[in-house]
Amino acid sequence: MRTSRLLLRFGASLFCAAGITSATYVIEDIYDTDNFFDSFNFYTGGDPTAGFVKYVGAVTANDSSLAGYSSGAVYLGVDHKTRNPTGGRDSVRLASNKAYTKGLFIADIAHMPNGICGVWGAFWTFGPNWPSSGEIDIIEGVNMQATDSITLHTSPGCTLGSTGSLPTSNLSNTNCNTGNGNDGCSFSTANTEAFGTGFNAIGGGIYAMEWTSSAIKVYFFPRYSIPADITAGHPDPTRWGMPMASFSGSGCDIDSHFGQHAIVFDITFCGQWAGNVWSSSPCASKAPTCNAYVAQNPAAFTGAYWLINSVKVYQE
Ligand SMILES: *[C@@H]1O[C@H](CO)[C@@H](O)[C@H](O)[C@H]1NC(C)=O
Ligand SMILES: *[C@@H]1O[C@H](CO)[C@@H](O)[C@H](O)[C@H]1NC(C)=O
Repeated sequence: MRTSRLLLRFGASLFCAAGITSATYVIEDIYDTDNFFDSFNFYTGGDPTAGFVKYVGAVTANDSSLAGYSSGAVYLGVDHKTRNPTGGRDSVRLASNKAYTKGLFIADIAHMPNGICGVWGAFWTFGPNWPSSGEIDIIEGVNMQATDSITLHTSPGCTLGSTGSLPTSNLSNTNCNTGNGNDGCSFSTANTEAFGTGFNAIGGGIYAMEWTSSAIKVYFFPRYSIPADITAGHPDPTRWGMPMASFSGSGCDIDSHFGQHAIVFDITFCGQWAGNVWSSSPCASKAPTCNAYVAQNPAAFTGAYWLINSVKVYQE
Protein backbone atom coordinates (compact mmCIF):
# COMPACT_ATOMS: atom_id res chain seq x y z
CA MET A 1 0.00 0.00 0.00
CA ARG A 2 2.64 2.46 1.12
CA THR A 3 4.96 1.50 -1.67
CA SER A 4 2.39 1.83 -4.38
CA ARG A 5 1.35 5.28 -3.15
CA LEU A 6 4.97 6.40 -3.29
CA LEU A 7 5.26 5.01 -6.77
CA LEU A 8 2.16 6.87 -7.81
CA ARG A 9 3.54 10.12 -6.43
CA PHE A 10 6.88 9.55 -8.08
CA GLY A 11 5.14 8.82 -11.36
CA ALA A 12 3.02 11.95 -11.12
CA SER A 13 5.99 14.23 -10.44
CA LEU A 14 7.92 12.74 -13.35
CA PHE A 15 4.96 13.44 -15.59
CA CYS A 16 4.76 17.04 -14.40
CA ALA A 17 8.46 17.63 -14.88
CA ALA A 18 8.25 16.31 -18.42
CA GLY A 19 5.27 18.58 -19.10
CA ILE A 20 7.13 21.67 -17.94
CA THR A 21 10.41 21.10 -19.69
CA SER A 22 9.24 19.64 -22.99
CA ALA A 23 9.10 22.02 -25.96
CA THR A 24 5.49 22.87 -26.72
CA TYR A 25 6.07 24.34 -30.15
CA VAL A 26 8.07 23.03 -33.08
CA ILE A 27 9.17 25.05 -36.07
CA GLU A 28 7.11 24.79 -39.25
CA ASP A 29 8.43 27.61 -41.45
CA ILE A 30 11.13 30.24 -41.36
CA TYR A 31 10.91 33.28 -43.62
CA ASP A 32 14.05 35.38 -43.84
CA THR A 33 16.58 36.67 -46.35
CA ASP A 34 17.07 33.12 -47.68
CA ASN A 35 13.55 32.77 -49.03
CA PHE A 36 11.29 35.72 -48.29
CA PHE A 37 10.54 36.82 -51.85
CA ASP A 38 10.02 33.21 -52.96
CA SER A 39 7.47 32.70 -50.21
CA PHE A 40 5.52 35.97 -50.28
CA ASN A 41 3.61 37.36 -53.26
CA PHE A 42 3.13 41.00 -54.20
CA TYR A 43 -0.48 42.16 -54.18
CA THR A 44 -1.07 44.57 -57.07
CA GLY A 45 -4.81 45.21 -56.87
CA GLY A 46 -6.51 48.32 -55.62
CA ASP A 47 -6.22 49.08 -51.92
CA PRO A 48 -9.30 47.63 -50.18
CA THR A 49 -8.97 50.43 -47.62
CA ALA A 50 -9.08 53.13 -50.34
CA GLY A 51 -5.61 54.50 -49.67
CA PHE A 52 -3.67 57.00 -51.79
CA VAL A 53 -1.41 54.17 -52.87
CA LYS A 54 -0.38 52.09 -55.87
CA TYR A 55 0.78 48.63 -54.92
CA VAL A 56 3.52 47.58 -57.33
CA GLY A 57 4.61 44.09 -58.38
CA ALA A 58 7.85 42.28 -57.72
CA VAL A 59 9.73 43.55 -60.79
CA THR A 60 8.83 47.21 -60.29
CA ALA A 61 9.48 46.93 -56.57
CA ASN A 62 12.93 45.53 -57.18
CA ASP A 63 13.77 47.99 -60.00
CA SER A 64 12.79 50.98 -57.91
CA SER A 65 14.28 49.64 -54.65
CA LEU A 66 10.95 49.33 -52.88
CA ALA A 67 11.66 45.73 -51.92
CA GLY A 68 14.83 43.76 -51.46
CA TYR A 69 17.42 42.73 -48.94
CA SER A 70 19.14 45.38 -46.87
CA SER A 71 21.32 45.22 -43.74
CA GLY A 72 20.85 41.45 -43.64
CA ALA A 73 17.08 41.83 -43.47
CA VAL A 74 14.04 42.01 -45.75
CA TYR A 75 13.33 45.61 -46.78
CA LEU A 76 9.82 46.68 -47.80
CA GLY A 77 9.40 50.38 -48.46
CA VAL A 78 7.71 53.09 -50.48
CA ASP A 79 8.51 55.62 -53.18
CA HIS A 80 10.08 58.56 -51.34
CA LYS A 81 11.30 60.42 -54.41
CA THR A 82 8.33 61.20 -56.65
CA ARG A 83 6.46 64.47 -56.10
CA ASN A 84 2.77 64.47 -57.02
CA PRO A 85 2.50 60.85 -58.21
CA THR A 86 -0.71 60.28 -60.11
CA GLY A 87 -3.25 57.97 -58.52
CA GLY A 88 -1.26 57.30 -55.35
CA ARG A 89 2.24 56.78 -54.03
CA ASP A 90 4.01 53.52 -54.95
CA SER A 91 4.26 51.01 -52.14
CA VAL A 92 4.13 47.27 -51.49
CA ARG A 93 1.80 44.78 -49.91
CA LEU A 94 3.01 41.19 -49.58
CA ALA A 95 1.19 38.08 -48.44
CA SER A 96 2.61 34.65 -47.66
CA ASN A 97 1.86 31.97 -50.25
CA LYS A 98 1.15 29.56 -47.44
CA ALA A 99 -1.87 29.82 -45.17
CA TYR A 100 -2.01 28.84 -41.51
CA THR A 101 -4.67 27.81 -39.03
CA LYS A 102 -3.54 28.36 -35.46
CA GLY A 103 0.10 28.38 -34.41
CA LEU A 104 2.74 30.63 -32.91
CA PHE A 105 3.98 33.40 -35.20
CA ILE A 106 7.21 35.10 -34.18
CA ALA A 107 8.31 38.16 -36.14
CA ASP A 108 11.73 39.71 -35.53
CA ILE A 109 11.40 43.22 -36.88
CA ALA A 110 14.17 45.84 -36.87
CA HIS A 111 12.18 48.79 -38.26
CA MET A 112 8.56 49.60 -38.98
CA PRO A 113 7.03 52.30 -41.21
CA ASN A 114 4.61 53.69 -38.63
CA GLY A 115 4.68 56.99 -36.79
CA ILE A 116 4.74 59.19 -39.91
CA CYS A 117 1.93 61.50 -41.05
CA GLY A 118 -0.07 59.88 -43.85
CA VAL A 119 1.33 56.38 -43.27
CA TRP A 120 -0.72 53.34 -42.30
CA GLY A 121 1.55 50.33 -41.97
CA ALA A 122 0.39 46.92 -40.86
CA PHE A 123 1.59 43.42 -40.04
CA TRP A 124 -1.42 41.14 -39.97
CA THR A 125 -2.99 37.85 -40.99
CA PHE A 126 -6.29 37.12 -42.69
CA GLY A 127 -8.23 34.31 -44.30
CA PRO A 128 -10.48 33.84 -47.35
CA ASN A 129 -13.92 35.46 -47.80
CA TRP A 130 -13.28 38.37 -45.48
CA PRO A 131 -14.37 38.66 -42.74
CA SER A 132 -15.68 35.09 -42.40
CA SER A 133 -12.22 33.51 -41.89
CA GLY A 134 -11.12 36.33 -39.61
CA GLU A 135 -8.37 38.91 -39.52
CA ILE A 136 -5.71 39.40 -36.85
CA ASP A 137 -4.01 42.82 -36.88
CA ILE A 138 -0.82 42.41 -34.90
CA ILE A 139 0.91 45.70 -35.68
CA GLU A 140 -1.20 48.56 -36.94
CA GLY A 141 -1.62 52.29 -36.60
CA VAL A 142 -1.75 55.55 -38.52
CA ASN A 143 -0.15 58.97 -38.72
CA MET A 144 1.77 59.94 -35.56
CA GLN A 145 0.18 57.22 -33.44
CA ALA A 146 2.72 56.25 -30.77
CA THR A 147 1.35 52.90 -29.62
CA ASP A 148 0.10 49.76 -31.32
CA SER A 149 -3.54 48.93 -32.04
CA ILE A 150 -4.25 45.19 -31.98
CA THR A 151 -7.52 44.24 -33.63
CA LEU A 152 -9.58 41.23 -34.69
CA HIS A 153 -12.22 41.26 -37.41
CA THR A 154 -14.68 38.37 -37.78
CA SER A 155 -18.06 37.41 -39.14
CA PRO A 156 -20.97 38.06 -36.73
CA GLY A 157 -21.15 36.00 -33.52
CA CYS A 158 -17.71 36.43 -31.99
CA THR A 159 -17.38 38.32 -28.72
CA LEU A 160 -14.05 38.20 -26.92
CA GLY A 161 -12.82 39.52 -23.58
CA SER A 162 -9.43 40.74 -22.41
CA THR A 163 -8.68 38.45 -19.47
CA GLY A 164 -4.95 37.98 -19.00
CA SER A 165 -3.84 41.06 -20.92
CA LEU A 166 -1.46 43.70 -19.57
CA PRO A 167 -3.44 46.11 -17.36
CA THR A 168 -2.21 48.99 -19.52
CA SER A 169 -3.93 47.58 -22.61
CA ASN A 170 -7.60 48.35 -23.05
CA LEU A 171 -10.10 46.45 -25.16
CA SER A 172 -12.37 49.10 -26.63
CA ASN A 173 -14.96 46.77 -28.09
CA THR A 174 -15.61 43.12 -27.33
CA ASN A 175 -17.82 42.33 -30.32
CA CYS A 176 -15.44 41.54 -33.19
CA ASN A 177 -18.08 42.32 -35.80
CA THR A 178 -20.18 45.39 -35.20
CA GLY A 179 -22.09 46.20 -38.35
CA ASN A 180 -20.13 45.38 -41.49
CA GLY A 181 -17.06 43.91 -39.86
CA ASN A 182 -14.93 47.01 -40.38
CA ASP A 183 -15.07 47.79 -36.67
CA GLY A 184 -13.41 44.87 -34.97
CA CYS A 185 -12.58 44.20 -31.36
CA SER A 186 -9.50 46.25 -30.64
CA PHE A 187 -6.88 46.78 -27.97
CA SER A 188 -5.20 50.10 -27.46
CA THR A 189 -1.78 49.56 -25.91
CA ALA A 190 0.54 51.75 -23.87
CA ASN A 191 4.14 50.74 -24.65
CA THR A 192 5.75 53.33 -26.94
CA GLU A 193 8.76 51.04 -27.47
CA ALA A 194 6.41 48.63 -29.23
CA PHE A 195 5.44 50.98 -32.01
CA GLY A 196 6.56 53.58 -34.54
CA THR A 197 9.45 55.89 -33.69
CA GLY A 198 9.85 54.39 -30.19
CA PHE A 199 10.19 50.92 -31.68
CA ASN A 200 12.65 52.06 -34.34
CA ALA A 201 14.77 53.94 -31.79
CA ILE A 202 15.60 50.71 -29.94
CA GLY A 203 16.24 48.63 -33.05
CA GLY A 204 12.78 47.08 -32.85
CA GLY A 205 12.18 43.70 -31.32
CA ILE A 206 9.92 40.70 -31.42
CA TYR A 207 6.20 40.46 -31.91
CA ALA A 208 4.73 37.05 -31.14
CA MET A 209 1.15 36.06 -31.89
CA GLU A 210 -0.18 32.85 -30.40
CA TRP A 211 -3.40 31.55 -31.92
CA THR A 212 -5.07 28.56 -30.25
CA SER A 213 -8.66 27.34 -30.06
CA SER A 214 -9.11 29.22 -26.79
CA ALA A 215 -7.30 32.55 -27.28
CA ILE A 216 -5.43 34.87 -29.61
CA LYS A 217 -2.57 36.58 -27.81
CA VAL A 218 -0.03 39.15 -28.88
CA TYR A 219 3.28 39.65 -27.05
CA PHE A 220 5.98 42.26 -27.60
CA PHE A 221 9.60 42.03 -26.53
CA PRO A 222 12.01 44.94 -27.11
CA ARG A 223 15.30 43.99 -28.72
CA TYR A 224 17.16 44.38 -25.41
CA SER A 225 15.02 41.76 -23.64
CA ILE A 226 14.15 38.96 -25.99
CA PRO A 227 13.40 35.76 -24.05
CA ALA A 228 16.17 33.17 -24.32
CA ASP A 229 13.72 30.46 -25.39
CA ILE A 230 12.81 32.53 -28.48
CA THR A 231 16.45 33.12 -29.36
CA ALA A 232 17.14 29.41 -28.86
CA GLY A 233 14.31 28.45 -31.24
CA HIS A 234 12.26 26.75 -28.51
CA PRO A 235 9.62 29.37 -27.78
CA ASP A 236 7.47 28.70 -24.73
CA PRO A 237 4.75 31.33 -24.23
CA THR A 238 3.96 29.95 -20.76
CA ARG A 239 7.24 31.56 -19.62
CA TRP A 240 6.62 35.00 -21.10
CA GLY A 241 4.34 36.62 -18.58
CA MET A 242 1.28 38.58 -19.62
CA PRO A 243 0.66 39.31 -23.28
CA MET A 244 0.08 42.88 -24.44
CA ALA A 245 -3.28 41.67 -25.73
CA SER A 246 -5.22 38.49 -25.06
CA PHE A 247 -8.52 37.94 -26.82
CA SER A 248 -10.25 35.16 -24.94
CA GLY A 249 -13.50 33.96 -23.46
CA SER A 250 -16.47 31.75 -24.16
CA GLY A 251 -18.26 34.22 -26.45
CA CYS A 252 -16.42 33.15 -29.57
CA ASP A 253 -15.72 29.80 -31.18
CA ILE A 254 -12.27 30.80 -32.44
CA ASP A 255 -11.97 27.67 -34.59
CA SER A 256 -15.06 28.55 -36.62
CA HIS A 257 -14.23 32.28 -36.95
CA PHE A 258 -10.54 32.08 -37.86
CA GLY A 259 -8.79 29.88 -40.40
CA GLN A 260 -6.39 29.65 -43.35
CA HIS A 261 -4.57 32.90 -42.69
CA ALA A 262 -1.92 34.38 -44.93
CA ILE A 263 0.71 36.57 -43.26
CA VAL A 264 0.75 40.14 -44.60
CA PHE A 265 3.03 43.17 -44.45
CA ASP A 266 1.86 46.36 -46.10
CA ILE A 267 2.26 50.12 -46.16
CA THR A 268 -0.61 52.23 -47.37
CA PHE A 269 -1.33 55.96 -47.20
CA CYS A 270 -4.41 57.86 -46.03
CA GLY A 271 -7.62 55.98 -46.92
CA GLN A 272 -10.25 54.76 -44.51
CA TRP A 273 -8.15 55.21 -41.38
CA ALA A 274 -5.12 57.51 -41.79
CA GLY A 275 -7.12 59.73 -44.15
CA ASN A 276 -10.36 59.72 -42.20
CA VAL A 277 -8.72 60.84 -38.95
CA TRP A 278 -6.32 63.30 -40.62
CA SER A 279 -8.22 66.45 -39.67
CA SER A 280 -8.29 65.48 -35.99
CA SER A 281 -4.67 64.29 -35.89
CA PRO A 282 -1.53 66.33 -35.09
CA CYS A 283 -0.75 66.00 -38.83
CA ALA A 284 -3.60 68.30 -39.86
CA SER A 285 -1.45 71.43 -39.61
CA LYS A 286 0.88 70.07 -42.31
CA ALA A 287 -1.64 69.98 -45.16
CA PRO A 288 -5.38 70.35 -45.71
CA THR A 289 -5.79 66.70 -46.61
CA CYS A 290 -3.86 63.51 -46.12
CA ASN A 291 -3.69 62.87 -49.86
CA ALA A 292 -2.24 66.33 -50.52
CA TYR A 293 0.45 65.80 -47.88
CA VAL A 294 1.41 62.38 -49.18
CA ALA A 295 1.48 63.59 -52.79
CA GLN A 296 3.61 66.67 -52.15
CA ASN A 297 6.17 65.48 -49.60
CA PRO A 298 8.04 62.43 -50.88
CA ALA A 299 11.01 62.95 -48.55
CA ALA A 300 8.71 62.58 -45.55
CA PHE A 301 8.49 58.87 -46.39
CA THR A 302 12.17 57.95 -46.39
CA GLY A 303 11.58 56.21 -43.05
CA ALA A 304 8.39 54.48 -44.12
CA TYR A 305 9.78 50.98 -44.42
CA TRP A 306 9.73 47.55 -42.84
CA LEU A 307 13.01 45.85 -42.03
CA ILE A 308 12.21 42.25 -41.19
CA ASN A 309 14.86 39.92 -39.81
CA SER A 310 12.58 36.89 -39.86
CA VAL A 311 9.11 35.53 -39.42
CA LYS A 312 8.98 32.07 -37.86
CA VAL A 313 5.86 29.93 -37.65
CA TYR A 314 5.67 27.22 -34.99
CA GLN A 315 2.99 24.61 -34.42
CA GLU A 316 2.08 22.70 -31.27
C1 LIG B 1 16.49 42.35 -57.46
O1 LIG B 1 17.08 42.20 -58.72
C2 LIG B 1 18.45 41.94 -58.66
C3 LIG B 1 18.98 41.99 -60.11
O2 LIG B 1 18.26 41.08 -60.91
C4 LIG B 1 18.70 40.62 -57.98
O3 LIG B 1 20.08 40.37 -57.90
C5 LIG B 1 18.12 40.70 -56.60
O4 LIG B 1 18.23 39.45 -55.98
C6 LIG B 1 16.67 41.10 -56.64
N1 LIG B 1 16.21 41.29 -55.29
C7 LIG B 1 15.24 40.56 -54.79
C8 LIG B 1 14.90 40.86 -53.39
O5 LIG B 1 14.62 39.73 -55.42
C1 LIG C 1 -6.39 51.96 -20.15
O1 LIG C 1 -7.28 52.33 -19.11
C2 LIG C 1 -6.64 52.78 -17.94
C3 LIG C 1 -7.69 52.98 -16.89
O2 LIG C 1 -8.73 53.78 -17.37
C4 LIG C 1 -5.86 54.05 -18.27
O3 LIG C 1 -5.18 54.51 -17.12
C5 LIG C 1 -4.87 53.76 -19.37
O4 LIG C 1 -4.23 54.94 -19.76
C6 LIG C 1 -5.56 53.14 -20.56
N1 LIG C 1 -4.55 52.72 -21.54
C7 LIG C 1 -4.66 52.95 -22.85
C8 LIG C 1 -3.55 52.44 -23.67
O5 LIG C 1 -5.59 53.54 -23.34
